[in-house]
Order: sequence, then C-alpha cells, then structure tokens
Amino acid sequence: MVSIESSREQWGSKIGFILAAAGGAIGLGNIWKFPYVMGQNGGAAFIAVYLLCVLIIGLPILIAEVLMGRTAQRNPVGTFKALTKNKMWRAVGGMGVVAGFVILSFYGVVAGWSFGYIIEAIKGSFFDYATPSAAGEHFNELTQNVYWITGLLGLFMGLTMMIVYFGINKGIERGSKIMMPVLFVLLLIMMFKGLSLEGAEEGLEFLFIPNWSKLTGLSVLEALGHAFFTLSLGMGAMMTYGSYMSKKDNVITASAQIVALDTLIALVAGVAILTAIFSTGQNPAEGPGLIFHTLPIVFTKMTGGYIFSIIFFILLSLAALTSSISLLEVVTSYFVDEKGMQRHKAVLLFGTVAFLCGVPSALSFNILSDTKIFGLNFFDLANFLASNIFLPLGGLFISIFVAYVWGFDKALIELKKGAEEIFEKRFWEIKFWKIVIKYFCPVLIFLVLLHSIGVLTMIINLFQ
Ligand code: TRP
Repeated sequence: MVSIESSREQWGSKIGFILAAAGGAIGLGNIWKFPYVMGQNGGAAFIAVYLLCVLIIGLPILIAEVLMGRTAQRNPVGTFKALTKNKMWRAVGGMGVVAGFVILSFYGVVAGWSFGYIIEAIKGSFFDYATPSAAGEHFNELTQNVYWITGLLGLFMGLTMMIVYFGINKGIERGSKIMMPVLFVLLLIMMFKGLSLEGAEEGLEFLFIPNWSKLTGLSVLEALGHAFFTLSLGMGAMMTYGSYMSKKDNVITASAQIVALDTLIALVAGVAILTAIFSTGQNPAEGPGLIFHTLPIVFTKMTGGYIFSIIFFILLSLAALTSSISLLEVVTSYFVDEKGMQRHKAVLLFGTVAFLCGVPSALSFNILSDTKIFGLNFFDLANFLASNIFLPLGGLFISIFVAYVWGFDKALIELKKGAEEIFEKRFWEIKFWKIVIKYFCPVLIFLVLLHSIGVLTMIINLFQ
C-alpha cells in the first residue's frame, strides 16, 4: 500500500507555494469586500484596526495553520487526528469543511457577477451610462435576473471544479504564477488612474485620515473577521495548502510574504476604488454592489478603458477562482484522505453541493429578497456567519490547540525546520509568536466572538 505521505503531491517550488497561497488569499476579499466593508465602517480608522488585526493575530495564526498542515501532511480533519489522540479536535477540522460550503455559497455568487461583467465589458455597456447612478441601476437590473445570477454561479462553480479536478501542481500552482503578477500590475495602473481623477483627494482623506469617532465595537469585529477572511484563515484552507509544503521551506518567511502581498493588494485596490467613488460623488457605504457600481465609470474615463475593463473583470474572476479552488480543495482533500473517496468523484459531488448551497444566496437578490433568517437574507447571513463566527471560532481553536494541546515543544521543533536562521538570530520573533498564540489570540478572539454573538442576538430580537 502506498502511504499518504509518499503519494501526496507537493508544491513544485518555494515561490510556487507562496504564489498559490497568496493566490488563495488574494481574491474577492481584497478587491470586492475590503473596499465596501471599509466604506461602511468609516475608512481610515477601520484600516488602522484591520492592519493591527492582520499583524498581531492574522500572521501568527497563519504561521500556526501552515505549520500544522506541513507537519501532518493531511487535510484539516486528518491534521488534528495526526497531532492529538483526543477525538474532539477533529470537529474543528470538520467545522472548517462546513465553513468551506458556507463561504463558497456567497463567494460563488459574487464571482459570478464578475464573470457576467466580463460580458458587459465586452459589450461596451459601461459606455452607455448617462450618469454615475446608471451604473448602480444596471447592476440591480442584472442581479434581479434569476437566470443571469444562477447561471453565472453555475459557470463559476463548474470552472472551480475543473481546476480542483486536475490537482495541485498543474492547476492551482501554474495558474497562480501567471495570473497574480498580471492582476497586480493592472491594479497599480487603476490606482494611478484613480489618483489622477478630479476629487481624488477626498478619497485619500477618507482612506488615510482616521476619524476615530466612527469606530464602533462592531467595526472592530468586522476588522478582525475581515483579517481572517482575506488571509483565508480559520477553516483549514492554509492548513491544507501547508500540507503540500516541503519541510525544507521556511514557514515563517513564507507566511510573512503571503500577508505582505495580501495587504498590499487590498490597499492598492482600496485606493483605486475609493478615489473613484469620491470623484464620481458616490456613496462608499452602499455595500456589496460597490465595485460594480463604481469601477465601470472609472473605465469610461480612462484611455484604453474598453480594453482595461475587459482585462480587469477577467483578472478579478481569475483571482476569485484561485481562491475558490482553495475552498473546494479543503472539502475535497477531506473526503479523499478521510473517507477514501476518489478525487474526481469528490470534486463532482461536492462542487455540485456547493452550487446548490449557493442558489439561495443568488436568489437573495431577487425572488428570495424578502426571505430573512435572523433579519438577514441568505447571502448576507452566509457572509456574516463565515467572517464573524466560523472563521474567528476556527482561529480561536487553532491557537488554543497549538499552545495547550499540541504544545510549543513539539510545534517549535517543526517550526525550526527550514527556519534555523530565524531561530538563531531573531529569537524574539519566535518568542513574540508564542506569546501571541498563547495569550493574545485566545483572549482577543474570544472577546470579539462574544460581541458577534451579542450582535446576532440583537439582530434576532430586532426582527422577531
Ligand atoms: N481569502 C480569499 C479572499 O480574500 C477567500 C478565501 C479563500 C477564504 N479561501 C478561504 C476565506 C478560506 C476564508 C477561508 O477572497
């Protein structure tokens, strides 16, 4: 019998892992969600808290997740199984698998919009808008069309399934290596365009001059939730990617590079989008439709805007794909490793399940818009549950697990592999990581979760 270890694929190179993991991290979270969440939470002050969350909690948990995966070389459930005899911990891995479906269910809808906008860009629809608000009206018209929205969701899930079907190296790694640099260059071009628009200063003020009075408990919760979401933490996605990593590679620097790339892209996208919003006099707090309401207008004002708009939505769709495959990969690797299913079968079956879970989210914009659970439609509920409950809860358990169950003695032996230099020369970094995982993460995340649950009960009370 071939053991799991020897038959398991590995990343072709160190940079292959970083780009694939960064590709998984960088996605709709950076370009679609970050601008609108930041817009709803008052801008600069939110960004400050978000950056703190990324640095103090996100990076240490990312290191922990990648390390656990690399040590066990298995899917999230199998990882907990390999690292402790206590069966209860498997449930944390199992929660990750469930979270995978919840995230895919709304992520696929937005990715579908992005696909649909490739077609709108090719048709040149954006150039027909008479006023900036026509862009928003057009978006609403499209999302109210049941066939448009569910058809595109299906197309997106189909493509996601296709890539995961073909495996790690040929699908995920190769694609990410090409797409991520192109996306970055294009975003930079759009940022400079945004900066050159009349009224861009207002956008910059919103982004960089904090108005602390706008910061509420809820925005702190949003900031932490978003830090988890954007770095793909808390549900075992990074654990799964880490499981394909070689023990010769440095977990600490690779994680730091992933965080740096992800944050950089979010900030560049933030500048590109917020400058455009303010210069066209739109409202930064309008929610999930934000980039679809604003970017088309920026394109009409750019030289070469027609071509750029097509390239942009293609890249956004691809960035969404490199992320959604990391979600489906978690689910797939679980059923392959633990349940002995064939990879191809698992992909087809659970990709279809993910599509079906996404349908109610898609219909939230039209026929199910009045169906509310806890006062939220399906789309908003899945979005809220993922970022504000599932992912932080997963992160909480991961930090407790590493600090108190697996134990630092064992964790540090594994962490040192490939990172000998950091252990010798910059010991304080290791010390900082230990303190954060042991004390900061559990306490801070717990407080934030309490707040989430408080918010949820408040919403429930309000609507019942
Ligand atoms: N991080 C991705 C984004 O920003 C989304 C994503 C992919 C994700 N895999 C995940 C989020 C796992 C949470 C968990 O678009």
